[in-house]
Amino acid sequence: MKKFEIKTTFTVYENESELSIEDQKLLAMAREAAGRAYADYSHFQVGAALLLDNGEVVTGNNQENSAYPSGLCAERTTAFYASSRYPGVPFKKLVVTAINSQKPLTMPVPPCGACRQVLSEYEQKGGKPITILLAGQSGEIWQVSSVEELLPLSFSGSFLPDSE
Ligand code: THU
Repeated sequence: MKKFEIKTTFTVYENESELSIEDQKLLAMAREAAGRAYADYSHFQVGAALLLDNGEVVTGNNQENSAYPSGLCAERTTAFYASSRYPGVPFKKLVVTAINSQKPLTMPVPPCGACRQVLSEYEQKGGKPITILLAGQSGEIWQVSSVEELLPLSFSGSFLPDSE
């Protein structure tokens, strides 16, 4: 029998002013996107700004629905739009933030498991790590250097049978 340990390492910035100008701009875009979210049911507005390898930035937010499971998180809305608009262009950096108007978020908001799985596939497809920055409405900002750090041992299409 063997035992293995998986460690996650991330960088903590004390506040927004410690970020590079580029990252501050991306965070401002993610905040604007969060403000445009359609979150009439949860009232939890999430926004994302995704920098692509071709220099384009795509933003997105969560989209809810009265049939609750039909909605989609900000991260997947953004990733799917980016891949549909710029197919095959690797993702470089994803900035995610959220707004809770009842109880302002003083902590970063990490992506849900389903979003991690989707981002993981785009990371593998793109062939380079996606930097992820997570921010609340105030306080620390966390930076993870890849999706793999967030979702080790992920499922991948390479497990599936070859299609011919
Ligand atoms: N949500 C996101 O957009 N991203 C996440 O990673 C977690 C949750 C959305 C889904 C739903 O519209 C609302 O936040 C409350 O769960």
